[in-house]
Amino acid sequence: MPSVVVVDYGSQYTRLITRRLRELHVYSVIETPAVTPARLRSHDARAVVLSGGPQSVYADGAPGLPAGLLDTGLPVLAICYGMQLLARELGGAVAPSSVREYGKAVLTTREGALLGGIEGEFVAWMSHGDSVAEVPPGFTISAATDDTPVAAMEDRRRRLYGLQFHPEVRHTPKGLALLDRFLHEAGMPRDWTSEHIIDQAVASVRERVGDERVLLGISGGVDSSTLGLLLHRAIGERLVAVFVDNGLLRLGEAEEVERALRGLGIDLVVVDAGERFLAALADIVDPEAKRKAIGGAFIEVFAAEARRVQDARGDIRFLAQGTLYPDVIESAGADGAATIKSHHNVGGLPADLAFELVEPFRNLFKDEVRDVADALGMPKHLRDRHPFPGPGLAIRCLGEVTPERLRVLRVVDDVFVTSLREFGLYHETWQALAVLTPLRSVGVMGDGRTYANTVALRAVTSVDGMTADWARLPHEFLATVSNRIVNSVPEVNRVVYDITSKPPGTIEWE
Ligand code: XMP
Repeated sequence: MPSVVVVDYGSQYTRLITRRLRELHVYSVIETPAVTPARLRSHDARAVVLSGGPQSVYADGAPGLPAGLLDTGLPVLAICYGMQLLARELGGAVAPSSVREYGKAVLTTREGALLGGIEGEFVAWMSHGDSVAEVPPGFTISAATDDTPVAAMEDRRRRLYGLQFHPEVRHTPKGLALLDRFLHEAGMPRDWTSEHIIDQAVASVRERVGDERVLLGISGGVDSSTLGLLLHRAIGERLVAVFVDNGLLRLGEAEEVERALRGLGIDLVVVDAGERFLAALADIVDPEAKRKAIGGAFIEVFAAEARRVQDARGDIRFLAQGTLYPDVIESAGADGAATIKSHHNVGGLPADLAFELVEPFRNLFKDEVRDVADALGMPKHLRDRHPFPGPGLAIRCLGEVTPERLRVLRVVDDVFVTSLREFGLYHETWQALAVLTPLRSVGVMGDGRTYANTVALRAVTSVDGMTADWARLPHEFLATVSNRIVNSVPEVNRVVYDITSKPPGTIEWE
């Protein structure tokens, strides 16, 4: 598949560059500066992007251009640190800026293949200490700002382009148009679409699996459910899908997932393991211990089911996992691409259940999995659900997890989430949840004094969950939800709203 390789110099935005290119329907992967021409060829690279990075090109040990890159003749878009490397390598000059520029800047000149002709004001996001002081021979200056005389440069003949600012961030509103122009200059085919992703994944699963069967554990979440749909498309009845209902999902969710997957033709084995999980959680209040207990119970239930299925229907050779591209990038060692593991260990399955792994989503970002889900017919309200943690409601039930406390939490959570959808606020937030705290307090209801539970509501905005801000939900909405909860759940007499960002808070309370 033709791709754009993004060389990572340590910018916090590297992943974003890759995602933006994929938004433009071009397949893109991340490599380290050690990437060789042969490795570029193995990716069918048709263009290269050099990311920004935190260092100065003159610092000791600062990474250089990938060896042999310029001899490949590939088009190169060099961003920030990447542009400085390119400038220095080709005979230009890089110097510390008089002021370290950080923030928005307006481009005052705009010329050339990438920047010429983009209409209206062009706001660019800058973050740099060094600047290009002199462009290399063959290059022209294609943009400047008041503080940065060389904000962009290009040598169109060699298809080499440099940007001192970041086109990949939202703070550069026309950045996507710029990336689009680069892809145009590079002659990139635009074939990275959901249909193509699915076709490719289906073909590679078929090739890998042959006539064998594949076992898949479904948790109820979007990723594993979508994987089920994809595998069903690829190998039909040779997919053995086991849905372990841990009893820790939201109200009605297990039934809904089951109905949707069955409706789409998947022959689902459902294991109703709620009691098994509750037993494992009995008397545990420590959040880490809860997570361990849940992980252990899952392995036990899944392994037992796998053995049962194998006894009944014969051996199964493959196990499918919903590994995503960010997991792959994260598991890469310090040497990066060369050590990316092709196999992750399946956490803790017993030795007699030795499966080979199939990971059809290992090249995909989460939003691409959602597009695939859409294309494969998953109902929209299931597909667009907020992220939900594997250990489920157990970690939102602070203190002991009992059937009764789970029931209360489930209803409160349902009132909150249903109301968010009703008010059109569900997609304004990245994640929303209710927490049943171990606190009880005094209240008054009608003529009577109450002594009941406190629940906390949490809603956040975020891009990837790594950092988050509390959602500024309208007061009217919060008032309505609070009334609804207290009126419909007698066990609750107090509702609080969490106004902590992450950091210092986390999203989950646990
Ligand atoms: P925190 O609480 O660490 O959560 O700010 C960040 C994001 O990760 C989710 N989360 C989990 N997801 N298994 C998961 O699949 C887990 O064990 C887990 N713990 C937290 C959390 O819901 C939030 O979206």
